[in-house]
Amino acid sequence: MKKYYIKTFGCQMNVYDSHRMAKMLEELGFVEAGDIKDADVVVFNTCHIREKAAEKVFSDLGRAYLIKQERQAQGKNTIIGVTGCVVQAEDNQILKRAPYVDFALGPLRYFRIKEVIEGLMNKKEVKILDTEFSAVSKFDFLPENKAQGGCSYLAIQEGCNNFCTYCVVPYTRGVEVSRSIKEVIDEAKRLVATGSVEINLLGQNVNSYHGEDESGKERNLAYLLNKIAEIDGLERIRYTTSYPADVDDDLIECHRNLSKLMPYLHLPIQSGSDSVLKKMNRRHNRDDYLRVVDKLKNANPEIGMSSDFIVGFPGETDEDFKMTLDVVNRVKYIQAFSFKYSRRAGTPAAVMDNQIEEKVKKERLQILQDLLFDYQNKFNVNSIGKVMPVLFETKGRHKGQLVGRTPYMQNVHAQADNSLLNKIVEVKIIDASTNSLEGEVI
Ligand code: 5AD
Ligand code: SF4
Repeated sequence: MKKYYIKTFGCQMNVYDSHRMAKMLEELGFVEAGDIKDADVVVFNTCHIREKAAEKVFSDLGRAYLIKQERQAQGKNTIIGVTGCVVQAEDNQILKRAPYVDFALGPLRYFRIKEVIEGLMNKKEVKILDTEFSAVSKFDFLPENKAQGGCSYLAIQEGCNNFCTYCVVPYTRGVEVSRSIKEVIDEAKRLVATGSVEINLLGQNVNSYHGEDESGKERNLAYLLNKIAEIDGLERIRYTTSYPADVDDDLIECHRNLSKLMPYLHLPIQSGSDSVLKKMNRRHNRDDYLRVVDKLKNANPEIGMSSDFIVGFPGETDEDFKMTLDVVNRVKYIQAFSFKYSRRAGTPAAVMDNQIEEKVKKERLQILQDLLFDYQNKFNVNSIGKVMPVLFETKGRHKGQLVGRTPYMQNVHAQADNSLLNKIVEVKIIDASTNSLEGEVI
């Protein structure tokens, strides 16, 4: 039997896309390879958001080429493909930098993977590059989706119109496109019917969702959340990633009224300084953001906040950086992601004056992460003794152990029977660290 191996870099949207590619390859009769060396088709689904992520792809590709040569010596053929944002950003350079790559499909074009693989296997094609950036929605061409497990991702919106000055997303994923209400509800129902109890709605700018209902009227994310909450058998709903300026009052009401909506929100602020936010072209300032957080906490006092931060954006002073620390101290995030600013060719910030030295970026990141981890650790330690509903998603490293998530996205390890996989179970938390909890099934 032919085997495939997909390695995913970057965000949850890429995880969703990889899952969809896997299913399409399975429709061609492929099965998943446990080891890249056994794979007849190798796909790297790539991320271009920061330099490190993008460069890692090329070192991985180099290793895949060595494997391809070894397999060739044994008379086996290997097709190497690259998908995702690096393809879009590099365009025809990708085949120059890695000439052994057989196919490269942009993030809006991977729906073609079946015909591409068939063409290459039948030797009708030798090399394929498709980075077409048309307004055609890839979702119209994707086969029906099935559950990815107890928890599934569901892309409801793709692309971004915000053009934050540091970010490549509008150039790699294109302008914002929302799927229709019916399309999303149908997919959600299928995910639940095939075993998901939790759905995480995805979009680069998910809360600016504006899909049409069947009468052609544009509806917002709150409308969609209410509709999805009506699905029997679905127990948990999340959505990510949100843009602060697009959190409307309807959405805040969802956090008050929808019991299926988890009390956790990833709402990136990026920086706590108004002058940096302005240079970033964010449509919110620090007070706007804090006001939204207050409203959310008012609607649901149990809500836990998460964010993304960038340190060392061009021109960021010590004072600016202190404002970021101040926001952390006010919001007391229960989890967060923080990055050193990475210069991305083609974005406005890449050519701004006063780029910050690496040494300063490194120092600031350390200070910020120490503070963030402190709050995260406190929150986790506070969970000890509590009984929490945990959705077990995977087997743990140790025998008889399962790993799941609390409503707050905390990882929980517990001794549990495999029959509890993909189920929500009451677990008593008995220990905690910064990154995970330990629990006992009760
Ligand atoms: N440098 C560093 N971090 C970045 N992000 C996006 N672009 C860059 C960049 N050029 C971060 C932002 C975003 C997250 C997905 O990645 O914080 O929210
Ligand atoms: Fe990038 Fe800003 Fe759009 Fe997020 S909102 S994807 S950071 S441009």
